Amino acid sequence: MGFLSFTLLILGLLRLVSAQQTTDPNEVAALRTIISYWNLGSKINLTMDPCNQTAPWATEDSNPRVACDCSSNPCHITHLKIYALDVKGEIPKELFELKELMDLNLGQNVLNSSVPAEIGQLSKMQYL
Ligand SMILES: *[C@@H]1O[C@H](CO)[C@@H](O)[C@H](O)[C@H]1NC(C)=O
Ligand SMILES: *[C@@H]1O[C@H](CO)[C@@H](O)[C@H](O)[C@H]1NC(C)=O
Ligand SMILES: *[C@@H]1O[C@H](CO)[C@@H](O)[C@H](O)[C@H]1NC(C)=O
Repeated sequence: MGFLSFTLLILGLLRLVSAQQTTDPNEVAALRTIISYWNLGSKINLTMDPCNQTAPWATEDSNPRVACDCSSNPCHITHLKIYALDVKGEIPKELFELKELMDLNLGQNVLNSSVPAEIGQLSKMQYL
C-alpha cells in the first residue's frame, strides 16, 4: 500500500470515529427522564443529542444548560444548570445516573424533597 492510500485510509478512519461520537446512552435516558419530569421539554429538545455542541443549551451562559466532556467516546454529561426555572417536585433519582457530573446548579426552584444520600455517588462533583 502506498503512502497516499495509507494516509487516506487513516483520514477515513478518523472521520468514521468522529462521526460515531455518541453520548453515554444511560446518561441520555436519565437526562430525558429528568427534563420531562421537570417539564423542560420546550427548552431542551429531547430528540437531539444533549451533548450536541451547537445546541442552544450548550453555551456557557445558557439556562438551562447541559455541557459535556467529549474528549473520549462516548461523551459524558458534566454540567447541568437549571436555575430559577420554576421547576417543581422532587429530585429525580435519574440524576444520579449522571456519574460524571462536575457542576450542578438547581438553585432557586421549588424542589420539595431533601437532597438524597445518593448524591454521594457523584464523585466528580466540584460545584453544587
Ligand atoms: C427537535 O429536534 C428535531 C431533530 O433535530 C427537530 O426535527 C425538531 O423540529 C426539534 N423540535 C423543536 C421543538 O425544536
Ligand atoms: C446538532 O445540532 C444541529 C443544529 O443545532 C443539527 O443540525 C445537527 O444535526 C445536530 N447533530 C446531531 C448529531 O444531533
Ligand atoms: C413533591 O411535589 C410533587 C409534585 O408537585 C408531588 O407529586 C410529591 O408528592 C411531592 N413530594 C413531597 C415529598 O412532598
